[in-house]
Amino acid sequence: MAEKLKVGIAGFGMIGPVHFYNIWKKSRDLAEVVAIADPDENQIRAGLEKAIGDIRLLSPEITDAEIERLRKTRTFNNYMSLFYGNSADINVVHICLPHDMHLGVIERGIKNDKHIIVEKPLVLSSLEARHILRIQKIHRYQKKIGLISQNRYNDEISWLKQQIDKYWPIKGIEVNVDWYREQKYYDLNEGWRGKNRRALGGVLTNQAYHQLDLALWLMDYKGEDIDIEDRVNSTNKNLHPNIEVSDTVSGIIRLDNGFIKYYGTTCNPEKIDITKFKVHFNKGYIELINEGGKVYTISDFLEVPEEFDKRKDAYNLQLGRPSYGFGHADNIRYAYEAMLNGTTPPISLEDGINVLKVTDAILGISKY
Ligand SMILES: NC(=O)c1ccc[n+]([C@@H]2O[C@H](COP(=O)([O-])OP(=O)(O)OC[C@H]3O[C@@H](n4cnc5c(N)ncnc54)[C@H](O)[C@@H]3O)[C@@H](O)[C@H]2O)c1
Repeated sequence: MAEKLKVGIAGFGMIGPVHFYNIWKKSRDLAEVVAIADPDENQIRAGLEKAIGDIRLLSPEITDAEIERLRKTRTFNNYMSLFYGNSADINVVHICLPHDMHLGVIERGIKNDKHIIVEKPLVLSSLEARHILRIQKIHRYQKKIGLISQNRYNDEISWLKQQIDKYWPIKGIEVNVDWYREQKYYDLNEGWRGKNRRALGGVLTNQAYHQLDLALWLMDYKGEDIDIEDRVNSTNKNLHPNIEVSDTVSGIIRLDNGFIKYYGTTCNPEKIDITKFKVHFNKGYIELINEGGKVYTISDFLEVPEEFDKRKDAYNLQLGRPSYGFGHADNIRYAYEAMLNGTTPPISLEDGINVLKVTDAILGISKY
């Protein structure tokens, strides 16, 4: 068997441990995490213990020796160490860092000839994405960049995709991300989530990103020019007094293949996460309503499954949230397979750039 990919994870806050767990869950025949980098040693230890706890739940037969090996994964206090010194063995770097750090680490990965898996959003804007394309060329980069958009691998989305293929064309999609995040969420880790310089777009690039990506993918958006109507990007200063980014966005995107009517907020007064995704066909509609991981399906023209319950996959896991789904394991495995086979990862740089073109337009940033 070919040698396993050697993985380094940059950033071990909320999502880094989710990567660690999911690599073990579905890709341990292809890859192993050999290093983790985060300046917060306590965060690394706490994240590792959560991931190990979840691994024990998944595979109670795991040996103590294997657990000890996972616990002894080498650690660094800066992602830079994944590229230099005794890190020459690392051939894939996962970027689980604040949004503004993605570009610099992607650039370093390209210059050091590493494969890269980057959490959404790819970078802050399509201008930054253009820089990636340029340095790929300059450095004759032949490795692969895979993006995380794990919701594409949720059961209900696979089912919806089949219906869309069957009943194409669609007239449009309504996306409604009605969530709640308290000010504390924005204040964590130097408050990066609330700053334009660090997390441009706010609710658009953090929470509603996934639904927007799904809508663009399902509507076969290829990066063409778009128009935005009825655009509102606002911030509720009573609820989130210390943030610059929008906590509420809404508008209509006009694409060649139809419309996307979007609404995203982190101000839901009920303090629960509800996501609605309604696809309009010529014949009628299909709607998915996600209430904390329980997904109801409704249609006015089709027999539909009553519900998809993502909470059953959560059992007693400490990591991840049923409302997000559990697609990281597939998302990461398919990217590794592409790296090993020399093909393009199913969720690629181009997918990331397409979403950025649309978020740029929503935010009113001029095109490059
Ligand atoms: N796919 C999803 O559902 C999902 C969910 C949550 C977050 N994310 C994405 O993951 C990324 C990280 O988000 P998060 O919520 O985990 O953020 P976080 O703030 O919880 O974690 C980021 C970590 O990066 C570390 N860090 C800062 N500087 C560093 C450096 N120089 N070297 C190494 N580490 C450094 C911080 O200490 C922190 O622990 C973002 O792109 C976010 O959008 C995706």
